[in-house]
Amino acid sequence: MSRRKQVYEGKAKVLYEGPEPGTLVQYFKDDATAFNNQKKGTITGKGVINNRISEHIMTLLGDIGVPTHFVRRLNMREQLVKEVEIIPVEVVVRNIAAGSLSTRLGIAEGTILPRSLVEFFYKADELGDPMVTEEHITCFGWATPPEMDDIIAMSLRVNDFLSGLFLGVGIRLVDFKLEFGRLYQNEDMRIILADEISPDNCRLWDIRTNDKLDKDRFRRDLGGVADAYREVARRLGILPEGGPRDMKGPEVMQ
Ligand code: TMP
Ligand code: ASP
Repeated sequence: MSRRKQVYEGKAKVLYEGPEPGTLVQYFKDDATAFNNQKKGTITGKGVINNRISEHIMTLLGDIGVPTHFVRRLNMREQLVKEVEIIPVEVVVRNIAAGSLSTRLGIAEGTILPRSLVEFFYKADELGDPMVTEEHITCFGWATPPEMDDIIAMSLRVNDFLSGLFLGVGIRLVDFKLEFGRLYQNEDMRIILADEISPDNCRLWDIRTNDKLDKDRFRRDLGGVADAYREVARRLGILPEGGPRDMKGPEVMQ
């Protein structure tokens, strides 16, 4: 049992009250779900790897001036983040056709898109996260037009940066999903990047073999899920010193 107050439990993460006002502790679970919770499983060590990968990527994004909720990693499975008001929209950026884009429009997986495509999905499990347009988002007040301008500009910047980062380690960034939140500070409010960036919410293909190094291995029962996540961490140069045996992480929270 944790001594801290839990404020939210999602499919892959738990949020607890942080040590100071305006902060939260983000705990990464090994649980995995797909197809809106219809498929459930556990990927041993996933939480530890995603905590490290997300820390690495959010830190690099911070370094190039993309504001993020990440403050610091606390331990193997937890990081301190800024508390934000989550905008209920998943932003998907695509460079290569795959997944729901291929199914929806009949475009073969692997087709290189003529330009990066930004799509929006309304975060509502009971509706199966339906695809929406900017019109829906501003009409229903989920985000304002200026907030959407910020969100799209940041998403494309993240795409450019991550495409280069992954290309440098032999990985094609096929697509990924981002979430944003409103950070309130004094009288000010600004939009920052929230959630996580990891193989749970990116499609990553090996540049030579096209091997999938992401959650599609779980979604499509391809096996070797944890090994693929570890391979991403290894290529990014962040595999813990002790190697794979170190990746399991504590079972019990302090
Ligand atoms: P999709 O092709 O299934 O729409 O997924 C696009 C990208 O978004 C892919 O990298 C996986 C990621 N994603 C999530 O992170 N969460 C989700 O719930 C879904 C459906 C996709
Ligand atoms: N995480 C999502 C779910 O369980 C879907 C996915 O990532 O494919 O519903």
